[in-house]
Amino acid sequence: MESMGNLRRTHYCGEVRLADAGQEMVVAGSIAKCRDKGGIIFADLRDTTGILQLVFDDSTDPEVFRKAGALKSEYVAIAKGLLRERDAKTDKIATGAVELYVTELRVLSGAETTPFEIRDEIKVKDELRLKYRYLDLRRPCMHEPLVVRSKICQLVRNYFCENHFCEIETPMLMKSTPEGARDYLVPSRVQPGHFYALPQSPQLYKQILMLSGFDRYFQIARCFRDEDLRADRQPEFTQIDVEMSFVTEDDVIGMNEGLIKTLWKEVLGIELATPFTRLSWDEAMARFGSDKPDTRFGLELMDVTDAVRGCEFAPFKNAAAAGGSVRLVNCKGLAAQLTRKTIDKLVEVAKTYGAKGLAYTRLTEEGETSSFEKFLTGDEKAALHAAAGAQTGDVLLLVCDENSTRACTALGQVRLEVGRRCGLIDPDQFNFLWVTRFPLFEYSEEEGRYMAMHHPFTMPTDDSLDKVESDQGACYANAYDIVLNGVELGGGSIRINDPELQGRMFKALGFTEEKARESFGFLMDAYRYGAPPHGGMAYGLDRLVMLMMKKDSIRDVIAFPKVQNASELMSGAPDVVDAKQLNELRIRCTGETE
Ligand code: AMO
Repeated sequence: MESMGNLRRTHYCGEVRLADAGQEMVVAGSIAKCRDKGGIIFADLRDTTGILQLVFDDSTDPEVFRKAGALKSEYVAIAKGLLRERDAKTDKIATGAVELYVTELRVLSGAETTPFEIRDEIKVKDELRLKYRYLDLRRPCMHEPLVVRSKICQLVRNYFCENHFCEIETPMLMKSTPEGARDYLVPSRVQPGHFYALPQSPQLYKQILMLSGFDRYFQIARCFRDEDLRADRQPEFTQIDVEMSFVTEDDVIGMNEGLIKTLWKEVLGIELATPFTRLSWDEAMARFGSDKPDTRFGLELMDVTDAVRGCEFAPFKNAAAAGGSVRLVNCKGLAAQLTRKTIDKLVEVAKTYGAKGLAYTRLTEEGETSSFEKFLTGDEKAALHAAAGAQTGDVLLLVCDENSTRACTALGQVRLEVGRRCGLIDPDQFNFLWVTRFPLFEYSEEEGRYMAMHHPFTMPTDDSLDKVESDQGACYANAYDIVLNGVELGGGSIRINDPELQGRMFKALGFTEEKARESFGFLMDAYRYGAPPHGGMAYGLDRLVMLMMKKDSIRDVIAFPKVQNASELMSGAPDVVDAKQLNELRIRCTGETE
């Protein structure tokens, strides 16, 4: 192998253009592809910016030509030459109008045959790609999102710094506090039996920073949550975390719409119209059956309880009598696509999300098939069809439940599945909206008590203040989520800054005074010395980049992601450790698992 000698890069491969033709330049990178056409050799050189074609021919220095003939894929090389216009131009690559006629070549590293090809369209198992992540990241489609991610971070920093925000780091090793997801714990060596938790978010610290007089804070913060993985959920992820003093919900929303507008303009060249739509949580659930509605298509839910309240179909009748409801989606003109077989699949979706079933009516030219209408009188059927705006070619899908939220949620998922299956979703659209006025509490069947829907520091709405202890199910919060194309991109709230109200919240959540002090005493003490009104929010940076880059999983926008069982396949983490390390930490593994 050779050294770089006195060759130093002057240009990046992907950045040269026809206007640069005639210049002598030095480029460096990996060989993406070689073609020896006998007497003429073409080699594509790839660096972080793109690909440039190198050319060698019979007038090339014989030693350079010999070295070019020995090049193989992924060899690392540096080349000096003259940039010239290409005869056979291509618009497949940005540098397709030029090529580098090489006069000097140094091969800096050889390379074994890679376990998969380094190009975009490959069919390779995810496990293999993740084991060889450094090779996978060389592929342009994997490389680009990380470059864009870096640009996004820079724009975020600029935006907030220009708006008087201060970037402050908060601890990675912190106190474990209740109420969130499961913590990742880190044992203390110097205090045996004591543990730090890795932050699930910098929430408490950013509130304390407002009390410390920093006025506006932001951080691109690593967060850790020991929860099950999904396409948009990793145990280790990044938030763009923001907090502001002396603000209302409108101020936080306005500032953040400005950020999103800037990012879309600078990164994608798209001019977004603001303000974004706002829906209350109640409205989002009623119309879309979701607190993160995908509004790229219609098929909105309807409440048809009154039309069928008195009918003889027991599930509807019972749900209505128990104070629940019957919800309907009219899949307009989709009868041909929603066959009986497809509807069976939709029934499974409804059941997965807690419904007991999915009732349907198909209205075709040949007639009508329904799972429930034989139990309805002519008038009831007419009332239902009128409420639904039913016409030939439509399919009516209905879910009933004594718990209306459950009925809406299940039907909301069915709506999404219909949207996907029937191709109703335009992948090129970016539909932003805010969901506001979330419930303050949600009842946990598992815990047998009300829990905070966001977190215990969320300010109740004015009309909920007197119900915090007495009617938790009827309380709403000054909390908001930003939703893009059916994905929760971020969320936040106005915080409680009154120690007395905070005490009432802890009580409502079932904390004894002792427990509240033990967990959050430092915050409660801090409030005693003057607290400005404040609020903020956090975005999932990984989700933001995923949606911007039109990727299906946040794994594609994280350099070294984890897989389903939370391991990182390239390095092999987590792994066993030496007995010595465990002894130092006074930890003994029992080997028992639940
Ligand atoms: P929340 O828990 O809603 O709020 O998180 C904010 C945003 O972070 C992203 N996110 C995740 N992304 C990837 N993997 C995960 N496991 C994961 N969990 C959350 C989501 C989510 O909207 N401290 C509050 C914010 C605040 O009130 O200011 C918080 O953490 O995009």
